[in-house]
Amino acid sequence: IQKIGVYTSGGDAPGMNAAIRAVVRVGISQKLEVYGIHNGYVGMIENKIEPLQLRDMANIIQRGGTILKTGRSTEFMRPEGRARAAQNIKNLGLDALVCIGGDGSFRGAHALWEEHQIPVVGVPGTIDNDIFGSDKTIGFDTAVNTALEAIDRIRDTAASHDRLFIVEVMGRNSGFIASHVGLAGGAEEIFTPDANTTVEKAIDRINEAKSRGKTSSIIITAEGQKPGRAYDLADAIRKKSGMDAKVCILGHQQRGGSPTAADRILASRMGAAAVDALFKGYCDVMIGTEGERLIQVPLDLVYKNEKKNQLDLISLASVLAT
Ligand code: F6P
Repeated sequence: IQKIGVYTSGGDAPGMNAAIRAVVRVGISQKLEVYGIHNGYVGMIENKIEPLQLRDMANIIQRGGTILKTGRSTEFMRPEGRARAAQNIKNLGLDALVCIGGDGSFRGAHALWEEHQIPVVGVPGTIDNDIFGSDKTIGFDTAVNTALEAIDRIRDTAASHDRLFIVEVMGRNSGFIASHVGLAGGAEEIFTPDANTTVEKAIDRINEAKSRGKTSSIIITAEGQKPGRAYDLADAIRKKSGMDAKVCILGHQQRGGSPTAADRILASRMGAAAVDALFKGYCDVMIGTEGERLIQVPLDLVYKNEKKNQLDLISLASVLAT
């Protein structure tokens, strides 16, 4: 291979820049030409593709977001959109691509290989950590720490006013951020789409804690929690117990900010491994982690399977928050 392209796709995640940097610098050190595709599949369709040089990567390892920008393309979901994108890649003579993104991005990458024989290697970048085949995704550690910092602050004011707070964290349909932040933040209760926490149980636990002298509590809820979101939960608690709860939705601040050391290291290793994999002739795979080890997982396995949350973290949090 002589020319490769790199793009970021789906929700941005802190550490994506470190991954781009690794792809570009490892690629160039191996005498490849590396092109940056802007705005993910949107830019691939619109031919927003430019060569990247070593110095373009200066000063980005510490920056959140993605210098290539990102996008969610509905056009790419249709065969005609993918055909236009593939034609642009072929016109430029790109031999292979590195896709940094999540589930939906990998579904698209797999289609590029199947329908147009464009080799793609995936790198999991999402704050949600919901990617099958990888213990960790780029951006998760930073998002958890960002949310945790906010929760520590909320705890100060909750304790001062003897209040109950419901804090909603991101995670789309998954509860990884909620379970990790809940345990690390000493939450009294954690609601996620997969945990069997109920409003009744939460009320009982808070009342028990009160009887032991606890005056303030924090409930963490994942945005994808069913049946409702933080305000619905607060309403249900109020209706069933008369308890008042303040609601705080952390939102998109969890997606921004400087990546933690763990995310920079993960992104650098994964970006380098992706280029290495392309060199060795692998494609249609994602670079994942299994413990400390980097592994390769077929892309279709990645998006066809669901990664299970560590519900033991939620049970442990509830034992510890007594
Ligand atoms: O996938 C990352 C994520 O931040 C999810 O946690 C969240 O549900 C979603 O993206 C929000 O997407 P958008 O920024 O498009 O509203």
